[in-house]
Amino acid sequence: MDDWLIYRGVGAPDPDRIHTLPPPPPWRAFSGEPLPDPVPPIDASSTRRLGSRVSAPPAQDARALDLINAALYLRRPLLVTGEPGSGKSTLAHSVAYELGLGRVLQWPVVSRTELKDGLYTYDAIGRLQDAQLAEREQREPDDIGRYIRLGPLGTALLPTRRPRVLLIDELDKSDIDLPNDLLNVVEEGEFALPELERAADRPGQREVHVLSHDGRRVPVRDGRVRCHAFPFVVMTSNGERDFPAPLLRRCIHLHLDPPRDERLAAMVQAHFGAGADEGNLDLISRFTSEDGDGELRPTDQLLNAIYLTQHTVRTDPARREEIAGLLMRPLDTRQR
Ligand SMILES: Nc1ncnc2c1ncn2[C@@H]1O[C@H](COP(=O)(O)OP(=O)(O)O)[C@@H](O)[C@H]1O
Ligand SMILES: [Mg+2]
Repeated sequence: MDDWLIYRGVGAPDPDRIHTLPPPPPWRAFSGEPLPDPVPPIDASSTRRLGSRVSAPPAQDARALDLINAALYLRRPLLVTGEPGSGKSTLAHSVAYELGLGRVLQWPVVSRTELKDGLYTYDAIGRLQDAQLAEREQREPDDIGRYIRLGPLGTALLPTRRPRVLLIDELDKSDIDLPNDLLNVVEEGEFALPELERAADRPGQREVHVLSHDGRRVPVRDGRVRCHAFPFVVMTSNGERDFPAPLLRRCIHLHLDPPRDERLAAMVQAHFGAGADEGNLDLISRFTSEDGDGELRPTDQLLNAIYLTQHTVRTDPARREEIAGLLMRPLDTRQR
């Protein structure tokens, strides 16, 4: 295998490899002073998707590996397009798991999502109410940091030594402005919290502790969050719309085809153990052959069918076919 690959898609953790990543190109170097904090460990949302039987063969093809690693080296976001079920979201979890980058920060995008939601929220009303209460009780009001919570993007930009992984999921669902707004923050690798910036010259207010998206209290200095290691950002899209050229220019674009053959076998083994691909060749070949009609049939359906037939009808081929057929259907709610 190529030496330059940091992420190799082998499905086994190798947390030291990230140290072999060379320094960023000068135009992508960031100056945030690193926090001493450890990286929060990987959580169930990653292991659920990846399966628990690691040591499967590579679940990415060579071209995808090259592009994923290009994004890591260049400190650029990876824009992953492809049909539902092609493995876009799981890719972020796979990189975090293998490179020991800890819990994936997830930002699911909907039409109402604004940049601000990803950066931070400030509970001004809560603070006002608490201040009035404190006055009545004749005590000091709580620190402003208690009313600020960083979002997934804001947390990903905290100055950590190891890059965090940020999944901006289904960016194509956003309103028209979000991709451009996002672009500025991703270019600069930093953002301001005006509420803190204004107060930063008051005594004791230079450094304020706020809540991160994953529930830790983290220091913010001078009202700005400035990254150290640029996060590994995965933006996914089901291709429902085109993105503005400036965004495309600053991303690495990877298109994932629906998994077939080796990749599909690797996924099946990741979830059901070594050899599970061979034990379910009938279902796998049915799954891959039936979509010659260009209909969408996400991998989740194959995984569901294998699970169900494993527990119900191991021995009766006809029933097995029947049950699998119930689940493996094109993504279309019209009656068939
Ligand atoms: N590398 C992988 N290893 C194991 N399972 C995977 C892998 N990639 C995808 N899958 C499985 O395939 C299914 C679809 O993947 P997902 O990432 O949700 O697709 P998308 O985001 O493109 O819709 C999930 O059930 C996931 O568990
Ligand atoms: Mg997805």
